[in-house]
Amino acid sequence: MLERVAASAAFVAVIGLTHAIAQQPAPAAPAGNAKTGQALFMKIGCYQCHGNEAQGGAAGPRIGPSPMLSFQALSAYVRAPRGEMPPYTARVISEKDLADIYAFLAALPRPPAVESVPLLKLEP
Ligand code: HEC
Repeated sequence: MLERVAASAAFVAVIGLTHAIAQQPAPAAPAGNAKTGQALFMKIGCYQCHGNEAQGGAAGPRIGPSPMLSFQALSAYVRAPRGEMPPYTARVISEKDLADIYAFLAALPRPPAVESVPLLKLEP
């Protein structure tokens, strides 16, 4: 009996712990200026592959506003991409510039839900 109590107490503790870890919010992105970010997105040339609205195109995927990486993941990727994308060092784009670009991406209007677009409704 005591063993069972101990086991369930341990179980509750583990559940509590994983719950606490899962609830940990992602580290906040540094504050950025979306307007400056848009100008940088155009000036540096992210738009050439990712599209004016970051919607994605022939040369690069959609990168915002959804789905969107965390700021840390975006920054890491821009510095050391693993695929076709060219790398950008901190000399070319500072962390502050990236924060602005991130703010621009996050502020883009989200696409409407598929169900809300009549032309995209599947007829039964
Ligand atoms: C020459 C084309 C090109 C340019 C310019 C470019 N990208 Fe990319 N980017 C890509 C491609 C292609 C990928 C897909 C993965 C790969 O092949 O590297 C990508 C992937 C990414 C990803 C990862 C997306 C994910 O979900 O994993 C981020 C973030 C990103 N780009 C941001 C930027 C930013 C910010 C800029 C401007 C500073 C930029 N890119 C400029 C082509 C480009």
